Amino acid sequence: MDRIRIQGGKPLAGAIPISGAKNAALPLMAACLLSDKALRLSNMPHVADIASMASLLAQCGVDVHMDGDAATGCPQGSVLTLCARQVTSTEAPYDLVRKMRASVLVLGPLLARCGEARVSLPGGCAIGTRPIDLHLKALAHMGAEITLDAGYVTARAPKGGLVGARFAFPSVSVGATENALMAAVLAKGETVLANAAREPEIGDLARCLAAMGARIDGIGTDTLTVHGVESLNAASHAVIPDRIEAGTYAIAAAITDGDLTLQGVKRELVAALCEHLEGAGVAVTETPAGLRVHRHNGALVGIDVMTEPFPGFPTDLQAQMMTLLTVAKGAAMVTETIFENRFMHVPELCRMGANINIHGASAMVRGVPQLRGAPVMATDLRASVSLVLAGLAAQGETTISRVYHLDRGYERLEEKLQACGARIERLKG
Ligand code: UD1
Repeated sequence: MDRIRIQGGKPLAGAIPISGAKNAALPLMAACLLSDKALRLSNMPHVADIASMASLLAQCGVDVHMDGDAATGCPQGSVLTLCARQVTSTEAPYDLVRKMRASVLVLGPLLARCGEARVSLPGGCAIGTRPIDLHLKALAHMGAEITLDAGYVTARAPKGGLVGARFAFPSVSVGATENALMAAVLAKGETVLANAAREPEIGDLARCLAAMGARIDGIGTDTLTVHGVESLNAASHAVIPDRIEAGTYAIAAAITDGDLTLQGVKRELVAALCEHLEGAGVAVTETPAGLRVHRHNGALVGIDVMTEPFPGFPTDLQAQMMTLLTVAKGAAMVTETIFENRFMHVPELCRMGANINIHGASAMVRGVPQLRGAPVMATDLRASVSLVLAGLAAQGETTISRVYHLDRGYERLEEKLQACGARIERLKG
């Protein structure tokens, strides 16, 4: 298994290109199942989760084709064309769903297009139990008959197809909103999804569905009204920038006392993070090239952070923000309200000299002058990158094992950091 080795203590300087958002790209890919015409997605990130979704779609009979992008000159190709002319399988098997929970996003589109779907239950993961009850409730409101058997969910639409309905989510869920939205675009009549998640990735999905011919009102708000259509057309869509990748590199600039510009990123995409960074003594300015991030006058100060659904502070940046606070002056309280077990990075950070105590859903961080390099282990995607940030700031050498977690969501991480002066390398094997 690959490891990452970092010699810390070097301020990062330069510009970092931000990739397309993985969490936008995954539901956009699933949306291809709604139409028998081609969906062309540009600005796709090259990360392992995208490859997993492509395998799942190919297994459903989707024609998957990756091309270069003349506009960006991306050598690996960042334009993905998906064509579900004929869906040959309506099943998402355990092996794929286990590897990547976002596989459940094929449930809504398969059910709406084919009238049935069989999807493995994802089970728990490193950050909590993560049920899919809200996905199933929303689909049941549209008339789906749902049965659970042998670890699989089987969903069947009524004879004439799914029927529009009003559904108020009892709590906010990104994935359940996406699944319900995709199902609703082909349901008969009007669907109203209240208390819908408002993450930018949902707006991106809704805009792509609209380009395919879906009729959706309320994009960007917590109430989505969908007027079902018979079928969808071919469309082209560019994936929005990855706000979590951008936020991670913003924190890299702050923690190393460096100066980075996050190319193509607007403040509104990461507004909650910017406000928190400014509170901690970091300057964030919008420039024509992107968002510039550096410390105000050298010192970081502790602030309190609570994760919330968008537009609040994102849970996917909690581990990275906590890492920054380990070297801020004074105390900071970090509260996680979205996932029940998302402090896996804490013991590893403590091995690097951080002073953190967990009390239920909150972690009390008391700033220390300096982290020290150590061998540490990655546990999930965002926890792993928080250890990279700690390694960049620490004195001495840090090696991070189990970096396959990082490869799920960060494109060319070492390359992007090296280009800004980081001493980071991948050790194969
Ligand atoms: C998505 C993101 C993930 C991010 C999360 C929260 C993708 C591919 N992943 O995950 O990176 O951390 O949003 O911003 O976009 N819940 C239920 N029942 C359900 C569904 C969710 O109880 O049916 C709970 C979850 O356990 C969690 C909370 O609701 O506690 C929010 O989860 P949700 O917004 O659904 O996250 P995901 O869509 O899985």
